[in-house]
Amino acid sequence: MKIMAGVALAALLLVASSPLQADGTGDPAAASSSDGEYSDAQGNPTFKIDKDGTVDWYTSIGYLRYGANCLQCHGPDGLGSSFGPSLVDALKTLSYSQFLDTVTNGKKNVSASQDLVMPALGNDPNVMCFIDAIFVYLRARSDGALDRGQPQKVAPKPAGYSKTEDECLG
Ligand code: HEC
Repeated sequence: MKIMAGVALAALLLVASSPLQADGTGDPAAASSSDGEYSDAQGNPTFKIDKDGTVDWYTSIGYLRYGANCLQCHGPDGLGSSFGPSLVDALKTLSYSQFLDTVTNGKKNVSASQDLVMPALGNDPNVMCFIDAIFVYLRARSDGALDRGQPQKVAPKPAGYSKTEDECLG
């Protein structure tokens, strides 16, 4: 009986969860924010996109930083290329911590038929100072919440943003 009740409860929770699709990190619905940076109920970074399409500041920064540091291998809009896999697909199953671990430490898939190397970017401030922004941008793409291309409507820059960025870049 106990097990049945547990299964019923789990089913109920699934039905009750947000209308947004869950991704590898879980339910992406924004539950809290700090200086314009949103987190889901589990405390993982997430995006917030208003009904009129206005994206949060970090999602727009993520788009730009993705273009500067990842696009050359992972393709426009996270869709993949012959040099690297689609991150729109990858984030459907990867958690935030798995994402961080791969970007920090890299990953290799080298065989006779292919030679795919994800560089370890953990020492690159141009990547690591913006890694949460890149993540929330890709999370929004993976969830189908954000179309291809540059977000056109962006929430104002949070008050503390420039100082935090300067301090991180050193
Ligand atoms: C020089 C090319 C290159 C660059 C630049 C690059 N990647 Fe990758 N990345 C790869 C390759 C190739 C793989 C697949 C490695 C494998 O399968 O072992 C990969 C894998 C990944 C994965 C794991 C996907 C999975 O399914 O496990 C993530 C996450 C990722 N990259 C994120 C990024 C992010 C974010 C950036 C930019 C900050 C970036 N990569 C920049 C080539 C690159």
